[in-house]
Amino acid sequence: MTVLQVLQATTAYFKKHSVESPRLNAEHLLAHVLGRKRIDLYLEFERVLTDSELAPLRALVKRRGEGEPLQHLLGTVEFCGHVFLCDKRAMVPRPETEQLVEFLKSEIQNPKSKILDVGTGSGVIALSLAIEFPEAEIVAVDISEDALALANENATRLNLTHRVRFLKSNLLEHAEGTFDLIAANLPYVSIENREMLSREVLHDPEIAVFADTQGDELVRELIAQAPSQLRPGGMLALEIGIGQSEALLSALAEKNYRDISFKNDYSGVKRFLFARYG
Ligand SMILES: C[S@@+](CC[C@H](N)C(=O)[O-])C[C@H]1O[C@@H](n2cnc3c(N)ncnc32)[C@H](O)[C@@H]1O
Repeated sequence: MTVLQVLQATTAYFKKHSVESPRLNAEHLLAHVLGRKRIDLYLEFERVLTDSELAPLRALVKRRGEGEPLQHLLGTVEFCGHVFLCDKRAMVPRPETEQLVEFLKSEIQNPKSKILDVGTGSGVIALSLAIEFPEAEIVAVDISEDALALANENATRLNLTHRVRFLKSNLLEHAEGTFDLIAANLPYVSIENREMLSREVLHDPEIAVFADTQGDELVRELIAQAPSQLRPGGMLALEIGIGQSEALLSALAEKNYRDISFKNDYSGVKRFLFARYG
């Protein structure tokens, strides 16, 4: 089979198995096994693939058809223009979170800001900010040792081990000191909504996806804890779940935060909450 025929057959297989963006997934996997850039496949559509080139692809295509996330099969994910290791130890970073980082880049005025990333997972928020703000002091916490191990590997790969301090902590328990910015993408899905999640999301660690029965419990707890660790005028920036904005806005107001605002994600969901304290 030629490159083009393999792409067509894989795309058809993915369509049949309800994989979103079937052609794009096919291109990513074929480029991955051939060790090429995706765009380079277009230059060799007519090339006939050998059996030894096709064998590893078959296994990956089967796993993708069964719902394993593309990023787990590739072992990497692109986030804010950088490549991060990605596997089942932490949540696959989402495009919404890239948007959060873009908002933060425009909000951070002081290049020497002290920043805390709560629930860092693979470290994408903390490490992307470390690249953008070379003078910032950055701490990142997570309750999961697996996630922290992956975050540390990402820091090593990106040469940022000296820039971000990763700590095991339940929310702010072990995050000492005060910060100009506390950013968090914590689990915000109610355990009762488990049935509604895609096959891919079920490959994320449970501790990265689910809070309690309401979904917003951990975010609420962080809203309660953050004032004692925000510098005067410091900002709390949160990624939140669908339909959670009104109640969390009230929670922020009750705790005397000011300049409370939200922003929508690309699909029009009120996804990000920002507030200052003191
Ligand atoms: C939704 S994932 C986000 C990961 C990463 N920040 C991202 O945006 O891709 C939430 C992360 O919060 C961590 N987490 C869950 N409960 C926590 C807690 N009580 N304290 C600290 N981290 C927690 C999980 O282990 C997980 O890595």
